[in-house]
Amino acid sequence: MNKLKELLADLEPAIADIINQPGSPRAVYEPISYILSLGGKRIRPAMVLAAYKLYKEDYTPEVMQVAQAVEMFHNFTLLHDDIMDNSPLRRGQETVHIKWDDATAILSGDLLQIEVYEKLAEVGNVEILKLFNAMGRELCEGQMNDMQFEQMDVVSNADYLDMIRQKTAVLLGFSLQAGALLGGASAQEGKQLYDLGISIGLSFQLMDDYLDSFGDTAKVGKRIGGDILEKKKTYLWNEMWSRLDATAHQEIEAVYTKPEVEIIDFVKTKMDESGAKDYTLELAQKYTSKSLTALNSFDTPSGDKTYLEEIVKMLAGRES
Ligand code: IPE
Ligand code: IPE
Ligand code: MG
Ligand code: MG
Ligand code: MG
Repeated sequence: MNKLKELLADLEPAIADIINQPGSPRAVYEPISYILSLGGKRIRPAMVLAAYKLYKEDYTPEVMQVAQAVEMFHNFTLLHDDIMDNSPLRRGQETVHIKWDDATAILSGDLLQIEVYEKLAEVGNVEILKLFNAMGRELCEGQMNDMQFEQMDVVSNADYLDMIRQKTAVLLGFSLQAGALLGGASAQEGKQLYDLGISIGLSFQLMDDYLDSFGDTAKVGKRIGGDILEKKKTYLWNEMWSRLDATAHQEIEAVYTKPEVEIIDFVKTKMDESGAKDYTLELAQKYTSKSLTALNSFDTPSGDKTYLEEIVKMLAGRES
């Protein structure tokens, strides 16, 4: 994973710069520093740089600013997402709405989003700004569908895939597209890379769902079983539900009156026994293979594909 390490090292000063949040009142800036300093995989800014590397070697200030913007935007979405999902833990630490309160997480998130626009104003590229706006709109639509689906017993695979495309994959798509365009990609190549980002994003969210139920909390840094408690219509859930009969559906509904550990254990067992667990991993793998095939056939006369290749492969085997 040397190429990914190299990208992360290249990003370090830019990330340190956004973690450093002077300003007052401290109460609104500290949570921003806090969430950004907890790390995370930094895959979105790494994807901006990896897509740029398909074209050019030496970074411009603009490509670093876009890399900063996507990581800030991602963290903004997490501040609000953790309220929506009642999540107590992120990156192994208390979420902002728990450590402080909901109002602080909302307002620090709002401010972080403004800082994203300040970054994009520095970039000064209207085309990229428009792509960013279209992406952000879809992400909000996806987040609303994600919440509305909580009220349903099951959703179709098509609806699930569209929801995760919007809430997660579009930001990965934007990261590749913007990095490539700043490297000199044509509009058509930019679109091809956006589509590649979508395919990477679908397997990314399938893995995220998988790890939420079957990962190790020490590695994932989130509360295992959170999606089950929130009745998220993950692929795991939908696949489980559609494989079970009415009696099993009633058993699942009944378990939701029990203590949380029992709910999580029971639903996980059903996801496993029904084959939904294995099938989810297979589907994630399918999108990873699709991404690698698309990347293989992508023509880059001047640049280096290995950066992006490493990212896709790392994500396929991730445990966090
Ligand atoms: C979590 O993203 C939110 C999703 C879109 C699934 P990451 O798994 O990239 O979170 P960090 O930044 O590495 O913590
Ligand atoms: C997050 O999806 C998508 C966005 C934040 C836009 P999740 O709700 O699955 O992400 P985690 O699991 O909390 O990181
Ligand atoms: Mg969510
Ligand atoms: Mg969440
Ligand atoms: Mg999740």
